[in-house]
Amino acid sequence: MKEKIALLKKEVEEFQVIDNDQLEQFRLRFLSKKGLIPLLFEGFREVPPELKKETGLLLNELKQLASVRFNELKEHLTSVETGSAETDLTRPAIPFTAGSRHPISIVRSEIIDIFSRIGFTVSEGPEIEDDDHVFSKLNFAQDHPARDMQDTFYISRVTGDESDPRDVLLRTHTSSVQVRVMETQKPPIRTISPGRVFRNEAISARAHCIFHQVEGLYIAENVSFADLRQTLLYFAREFFGKDASIRLRPSFFPFTEPSAEMDVSCNLCGGKGCNVCKGTGWLEVLGCGMVDPNVLEACGIDPVKYSGFAFGMGIERAAMLKYRINDLRLYFENDIRFLDQFRTEII
Ligand code: PHE
Repeated sequence: MKEKIALLKKEVEEFQVIDNDQLEQFRLRFLSKKGLIPLLFEGFREVPPELKKETGLLLNELKQLASVRFNELKEHLTSVETGSAETDLTRPAIPFTAGSRHPISIVRSEIIDIFSRIGFTVSEGPEIEDDDHVFSKLNFAQDHPARDMQDTFYISRVTGDESDPRDVLLRTHTSSVQVRVMETQKPPIRTISPGRVFRNEAISARAHCIFHQVEGLYIAENVSFADLRQTLLYFAREFFGKDASIRLRPSFFPFTEPSAEMDVSCNLCGGKGCNVCKGTGWLEVLGCGMVDPNVLEACGIDPVKYSGFAFGMGIERAAMLKYRINDLRLYFENDIRFLDQFRTEII
């Protein structure tokens, strides 16, 4: 009997109605002459005398509860019908704040957009790569320091040999994607490869072991350094503003010859010199150069017929320069106070 009472109590409490029919069902089920509660009262006669007091109390409680609940439900229905519900239906909704895109995503899309306007397609590739695609085919000498354990996260090494082409590792740059494109497509090739890259570096305000790059590749007949320069100038003006100017400084990368670093005029002081550009008036943005003929050959492209240029930049760095963010770690902490500042950016 006690269990039955408890079960019914629960049912009464949880009963919901949306119209008068259901309200009537409630009445019939629990309260009417043939309802479950009067039925229990009938069964009360069989309860052993020593339990009568306790059971009687519970039974009365249940009856009370059911009639209170019945009145509540009835009241609820009429108030909804007449519009006088407890909830004020005219009350404005709780403001819904939509999320915003992460600054890295915003800048990534912007860079893709800028290059797609001049005919670059987007290509993607695996983050877990082999030595062949990350290093060997890009003309990295066997003993190039970038292959060193300090820079690269190796997943498995096939032999003890530092530069076995079958070694599996996390890509350190998205140039690996460009190798894959060159292996499978015929020139003219005009593509950019955005993606995550991994380097075994200590995390600080200026470096992280995971970051994002966009690398670009253009291969066709008669591509010259002037084409590279003009493409980068176009990018700088679209990305940093129409007054931006660029300069190219000689540099070295195993896969390009000649190679250069591109600086853009400091957008804070306009090139006069400030603490952001450390008084130089220039900010370092990306690496670039003419694709080394050895790379073309390794990827099955005739280096006599074709030439090309390549460039690569860190998205975090580009975003830092554009938005004057001074600590790389902010990108990964997901602190709302930081992310909120990009809410108004066009996405
Ligand atoms: N892959 C280089 C890097 O990760 C950047 C680069 C790309 C430089 C293409 C030159 C040409 O640092």
